[in-house]
Amino acid sequence: MENQTKNNSIQIDNFQRPVLSLRISITNRCNINCFYCHHDGVIAQKYEMDPSEIERISRVARNLGIKKIRLSGGEPLIREDIIDIVKKISALGFKDVSLTTNGTLLENYSEKLKETGLNRVNVSFDTLNPQTYRFITESNYLEQVKRGIKKAVSVGLYPVKVNMVLMRGLNHEEIWDMFQFCKENGAILQIIELLKTESCPDTDFFDDYHYDIGIIENQLMKKATNVKTRSFMQDRKKYFLEGGEIEVVRPMDNTEFCKNCTRLRITPDGKLKPCLLRNDNLVDLIEPIRRGDSDDELEKLFQKAITNREPYYHKC
Ligand code: 5AD
Repeated sequence: MENQTKNNSIQIDNFQRPVLSLRISITNRCNINCFYCHHDGVIAQKYEMDPSEIERISRVARNLGIKKIRLSGGEPLIREDIIDIVKKISALGFKDVSLTTNGTLLENYSEKLKETGLNRVNVSFDTLNPQTYRFITESNYLEQVKRGIKKAVSVGLYPVKVNMVLMRGLNHEEIWDMFQFCKENGAILQIIELLKTESCPDTDFFDDYHYDIGIIENQLMKKATNVKTRSFMQDRKKYFLEGGEIEVVRPMDNTEFCKNCTRLRITPDGKLKPCLLRNDNLVDLIEPIRRGDSDDELEKLFQKAITNREPYYHKC
């Protein structure tokens, strides 16, 4: 019988925040090149971890009470062993296993991912306009991504969320078209405020394209039949509208966002990362794994990273 460890007890950080989810960046490679991409907060890395290392980390996380795993990148579907990775993680019995993808390879992979135990996907998809898509991604995959989203919904990955990063003058007038597209295809639209992080490739884009998401929230507030705040999901707001719903992710200068953050991250080169916005408090896991450290020792490293967690934006 596999060691389920002591008690699977949930870890609480010094700010009374439980740690419930782990976001594993399994590669920094990507097949498109979105100019605003924050690469999940990672500046540079040399390796990818192999599936058994990812499995080991996930098992330790589970034994420390983590309930949800999300795979991200780069583009996670670019890894040829992605199905093996998902299979190994699914077998560990998490409440939720999900993946964030740019959708370009989703049409081919959806069925297999569903069979292998993946619960759901978020698809980064900012525009329905071919020129805007080309400008943002330096690629021509728009129709392929649309087919990918449809396929993911049709095989029963649920929910399929469309992550739309809002950018002034690029797509801020497309919200209702995107909402329509999502409604028609059984997906949920998630509008994300543009962020500037030290891992973004270019810093000027923020001043050029940042759009005040408050303006959108005011419009949504007027149209919504109901609004819910998801306090254990970084205080995200969900607006219920005729025929569908829209979620809004607004992290910038948002103390509530940080106060309700329950997430820990792993970089592609195997470091625990307590906060998307910081790189000065990482805790290396891969070197201890490769030199054969025990699960107990790895748990201690998780606990160290949890001790390093502090809200990036907080009230003084
Ligand atoms: N600002 C906001 N969101 C971003 N993402 C990537 N870079 C940025 C940024 N600079 C989004 C992607 C993806 C999610 C994981 O993060 O669209 O859906």
